[in-house]
Amino acid sequence: MTDEELLGLARAAAAKAYAPYSKFHVGCAIESVDGEVVTGANMENACYRLGVCAEQSALTAAQHQFGLDKVARVVVVGGTDATVCTPCGGCRQAILEAAHLSGRDVEILCGSGDGSAGARHTIGELIPSGFGPENLKG
Ligand code: THU
Repeated sequence: MTDEELLGLARAAAAKAYAPYSKFHVGCAIESVDGEVVTGANMENACYRLGVCAEQSALTAAQHQFGLDKVARVVVVGGTDATVCTPCGGCRQAILEAAHLSGRDVEILCGSGDGSAGARHTIGELIPSGFGPENLKG
C-alpha cells in the first residue's frame, strides 16, 4: 500500500479509539511483508494504568493475522494538531520484538493528527541498542 493509504487506515482506526480520559486518539496500521494490513487504536480504562496503546493493539492483531515475524511497516497517527505522533517507549520495545523476530529494521511512518506533518523512521533509530529476544538466547 502507499504511505497515504496506510496513513488513511491509521486515521480511520484512530477515529475508533476508546480514549475518554486523555481524549488523545491514536491509530496504528501495520503492513506485512506480503501486503496484508491490520489496524488498532488505543483503548483506555477507568483504571488508568490498564490502558492499551494503539501500536500494541495493532501488534496483537498482526500476530493473529500474519505473525509478528512478518511485520514490515508500522504507521502511527495521533492527536489533533500538527505534532507528529511517534510511538511511546513501551511501544518501541513492542515493535522491536517484531523486528528481532524478522531480522528486519522495521519502518515506522508517523503522522500528525491534522495530517499536515509526518516523519519516517526505523525501529533501530527509535530504540538503538535495544534489548530483545536475541539477548535471551544462549
Ligand atoms: N498512546 C498510544 O496509543 N500510543 C503511543 O505511542 C503514545 C500514547 C495513547 C495512550 C493513551 O491512551 C493516550 O495515547 C495518551 O497518552
